[in-house]
Amino acid sequence: MKVLNAEHISMIFGGLIAVNDVTIYANRGELLGLIGPNGAGKTTIFNMLTGVYVPTHGKISFENARNNQLTINKVKPYKVARFGVSRTFQNIRLFKELTVLENMLVSMHKNIGYSIFGAIFRTNGFLKTEQEFYESAIKILEATGLDTKKDELASNLPYGEQRKLEIARAIATGAEIVFLDEPAAGMNPAETAELAVLIKRLKEDYKLTVVLIEHDMRFVMNLCERIYVLDFGVLIAEGTPHEIKNDPKVIKAYLGEELQ
Ligand SMILES: Nc1ncnc2c1ncn2[C@@H]1O[C@H](COP(=O)(O)OP(=O)(O)OP(=O)(O)O)[C@@H](O)[C@H]1O
Ligand SMILES: [Mg+2]
Repeated sequence: MKVLNAEHISMIFGGLIAVNDVTIYANRGELLGLIGPNGAGKTTIFNMLTGVYVPTHGKISFENARNNQLTINKVKPYKVARFGVSRTFQNIRLFKELTVLENMLVSMHKNIGYSIFGAIFRTNGFLKTEQEFYESAIKILEATGLDTKKDELASNLPYGEQRKLEIARAIATGAEIVFLDEPAAGMNPAETAELAVLIKRLKEDYKLTVVLIEHDMRFVMNLCERIYVLDFGVLIAEGTPHEIKNDPKVIKAYLGEELQ
């Protein structure tokens, strides 16, 4: 069953066609890769899919686990997020002056379900929700291996762990589909290998659909079930890692680089 359907989407900035007539979909529970050289339009696609940019052309729709449909066109990013669509950014966007746990809780409060009255008078409903937030934050931190660092400032974490916290935070919003923009960027090979295991496990535990952008070919080829390849804003290939590695158009787009 498809959870994401983006049909013929384009994004034009002034005279520049950053994304040109791209059609992509995701099945529930899939782990998808979106690859392509620098400036190919990958992040722009994520921005359209998460409501940050309104596509110049095309249609984007999501279906959540309760079979509700959301068609996004001029829908604000927070509304897309509430529908169970979450993301991380190419550059880390943590609250550096907050602790690991606080970063999680801030993210979860975007989905607040209690009233101002409850917050002021600390009604049972409010306390319960706070307790639930706390427990589920701890659970995700445990799964991510960051629970022992929950009281550390985000800025004190090593770089690789900051990236992991970003993913943990994206899941904390109750996401069903998660877009990860270069989650392994800046990681060393050991951290990258660990990250691949973590993403697979989180996907299973939280029943996620994951779409990720990554330049590390070994990482993408080992992790993703299906891959889309973008070049100069145009989709040039789609298929399994094996198909992608052997696709002449892909090899040409990556001329001089090793597709592992
Ligand atoms: N807000 C914007 N205004 C104008 N041009 C933009 C904007 N965002 C992106 N672009 C342009 O669109 C093209 C695609 O950019 P995008 O960031 O989507 O590429 P990318 O595939 O994510 O590249 P990278 O691998 O370097 O992150 C680039 O030419 C970029 O300069
Ligand atoms: Mg990018």
